[in-house]
Amino acid sequence: MKLGLLQMVILLLKLLFVMILAQKELFMSRFFSDTVKSIRPYVPGEQPKDRRFIKLNTNENPYPASPAVIEAIRSVTGLEARLYPDPEVAALRYTLADYYGLAMNQVFVGNGSDEVLAMAFPAFFNRTDTIAFPDITYSFYPVYAAMYEIPSLIVPLEEDFTINFDAYPDTLKGFLLANPNAPTGIAVTAAKIEGLLQFHSDTLLIVDEAYVDFGAESVVSLTSNYDNLLVVQTMSKARSLAGLRVGMAFGAPELIKGLECIRDSFNSYTLDIVAQRAAKAAYEDVTYFETTRQAIIATRDRTVADLRELGMTVRPSSANFVFCTLPGVAGEEVQQYLRDNGVLVRRFAMERIQDWLRITIGLDEEMDEVIRLLQLLALQKS
Ligand SMILES: Cc1ncc(COP(=O)(O)O)c(C=O)c1O
Repeated sequence: MKLGLLQMVILLLKLLFVMILAQKELFMSRFFSDTVKSIRPYVPGEQPKDRRFIKLNTNENPYPASPAVIEAIRSVTGLEARLYPDPEVAALRYTLADYYGLAMNQVFVGNGSDEVLAMAFPAFFNRTDTIAFPDITYSFYPVYAAMYEIPSLIVPLEEDFTINFDAYPDTLKGFLLANPNAPTGIAVTAAKIEGLLQFHSDTLLIVDEAYVDFGAESVVSLTSNYDNLLVVQTMSKARSLAGLRVGMAFGAPELIKGLECIRDSFNSYTLDIVAQRAAKAAYEDVTYFETTRQAIIATRDRTVADLRELGMTVRPSSANFVFCTLPGVAGEEVQQYLRDNGVLVRRFAMERIQDWLRITIGLDEEMDEVIRLLQLLALQKS
């Protein structure tokens, strides 16, 4: 019996389907919880080990941590390492409170802002609440919502990737806002956020300021006036400490207590002694922070101009990355071309932004190479 082409294709598709199912089953343990069975975990950016790339895919800082940080790391003695770290993280929290003009009980620290965010979900939301965030934003938010089974309202960004604040109802229990947003880099003003805090007075507004130091207005100071504001920050970006994992939250003392309650029901020692000491040193070295942050801003601004010059569409960025697309060329192709030529950038497989690339701002010479490669590609395609 001869099979027609269509029948063959259908048969192959069926076979593929069975293979995918079998593959999934292969990695399933009969002991998995429903959470593990159903969740789609966050996929971190690639950290290649086999080859040297110009690595512009995970928004790391191109400058090393401050020399004062390295000195602080070296200062940890064997006897100190023998003991558990301070669960209150008092010295670091004192430095942070002093830096932002807050009281110590308005400051929480955790093992990276990912952990702080992960603790905020069970600290403040129930399975009957609704939290909202844009369709295009930090891709960890929907993962946390799913893991804690908190219903989410996902609100599409406008065509130009700005946020349509009128689309957020005032009945929400939570509203997550990355400012500047990721991966777009677009920021909103502090005045806008203050307006939201007043309009959504019964909603907890969580402002994720991971990239705020690269050009947006921080609302940390507003935490003293609004009990419905939690500001989350990280030392991974502007302070070059992604490898040490330090994140913070600032808010009213009751909110901080909520986070502490979750932390102490999970792991009281999330921040090790090395990270505690190094993070303190990073905040104290204001000169180094200012110099490196300004250098990144300058490199970003001229990169945006260069990319536009070669014909790319680039969103205005207040972050240490730019979000751009080469009209008429698939994002996947541009990403692969850059990869083949030694440059890693990030792309998100979401229909609306599949042709857009998020390019971290690296050193000037690294950005020169990116521009050179993209110029060649644009020329080839024109
Ligand atoms: C918007 C946003 N928030 C939070 C984080 C998490 O940062 P970390 O866990 O390194 O502090 C990231 C990391 O890329 C981010 O892009």
